[in-house]
Amino acid sequence: MKYLQILGQKKLAGEVSISGAKNAALPLLASTILAKNSVEICNLPNVVDINTLLKLLEMLGSSFSKIDNNCITINTLNINETKATYDIVKTMRASILVLGPLLARFGHCEVSLPGGCAIGQRPVDLHLKALEQMGAIIEIKAGYILATAPKGLKGSTIVFDKITVTGTENIIMAAALAHGTTKIINAAKEPEVVQLCEVLRDAGLNIKGIGTNEIEIEGTAQELLEFKDFGIIADRIEAGTYLCAGAIANSKITLNNVIPMHLDAVLSKLEEMGFGIEKTDTTITLLPAKSIKPVKLTTTEYPGFPTDMQAQFMALATQANGVSIIDENLFENRYMHVNELLRMGADITLKGHTATITGTPNALTGTDVMATDLRASSALVLAALVAKGTTNIHRIYHLDRGYENLEEKLTALGADVKRFNE
Ligand code: EPZ
Repeated sequence: MKYLQILGQKKLAGEVSISGAKNAALPLLASTILAKNSVEICNLPNVVDINTLLKLLEMLGSSFSKIDNNCITINTLNINETKATYDIVKTMRASILVLGPLLARFGHCEVSLPGGCAIGQRPVDLHLKALEQMGAIIEIKAGYILATAPKGLKGSTIVFDKITVTGTENIIMAAALAHGTTKIINAAKEPEVVQLCEVLRDAGLNIKGIGTNEIEIEGTAQELLEFKDFGIIADRIEAGTYLCAGAIANSKITLNNVIPMHLDAVLSKLEEMGFGIEKTDTTITLLPAKSIKPVKLTTTEYPGFPTDMQAQFMALATQANGVSIIDENLFENRYMHVNELLRMGADITLKGHTATITGTPNALTGTDVMATDLRASSALVLAALVAKGTTNIHRIYHLDRGYENLEEKLTALGADVKRFNE
């Protein structure tokens, strides 16, 4: 196993280029199951989760070639298998995103039930209920979802009881090849969902309500789509994470290749904490705060404050002059980073889904800590950047799932970060 060693208290400076969004690339790669042609996809982040989904698509019979580290051409015409096995799904729950397109195209598929994960039980009941409403027969057998729709799926009106990002994405892809029109009510409207809709629209799909929580799709009755080549949008969560790196080091840094409007909620919270923000169409510059103020934030669906930035802001809140309050409303167990931050000297108390952080500027000390999930591990990296002495972050395979070239990017900003083998 590998670990990161970070020597803290370094000022940061300079620029960092943000990669393509993992959570946009995953549904978009799955959507190529709906394509009748080869598709060139660029600005793909070269991270473990993307390579896992490419491996799954290859196991199903797709073929792809790497044009460079961040560009591929993929062809799914020769898919001859519709079973996504446990060994691959257990490593990445987003594999569930092949369920909708496989079922819509082939009329049958078997997908291993994704287990829970560190941040919560994360059921997929809403995905399955919606597919049943579209005429699918769903059976759960020996840990697998057995889904059949011999005559294809039929357009229906789907009302999601809860807003679900991958649930919305699965049903958009299922509806694309359905017989008839599907209306999705209470749909997620994250930028990653929007790009999936835009790519499908550019492939000729008749889709209305893009970017709203009511989407209407006219299915092609299992006619495959002619995809256009496309590039993945910038990763707003990676961008937010690096803004927090600049903020926790109270340093001026600039992010390139970002889409500032996707970070409105994050930027306004940084300004509330006393940081300056300067934007152009594709860059964000963070300016240091005279004094870091505490923050009160509640995670909610887009365009509200993203749950994927909660852990990073908790690390930042340890440097505020005062008491911050964080409410995590989306996942029932997304505080795995708290115990590790406490070991570094943070002052955090948990009561239900509310965390109270009493800022202790420059009081964190480096030690050995353990990553537990993707965003929790990025919070530990941030804390290590400002901690006195050296921090060793173990189990960093969590980080490698969603952050491309993390050490190189942080080192280029002036951090002292090295990767070692245990
Ligand atoms: C997506 O997960 C993201 N992953 C997550 O990012 C992100 O945290 C989450 O959306 C919320 O924004 C990808 O896009 C690959 P949900 P997803 O379905 O779709 C409950 C990261 O760090 N729910 O929107 O799995 C669920 O338990 C990851 O990159 C049901 O009850 O999340 C949760 O409480 C972590 N039944 C809430 O809804 C269902 O069938 C929101 O989940 C589906 C979801």
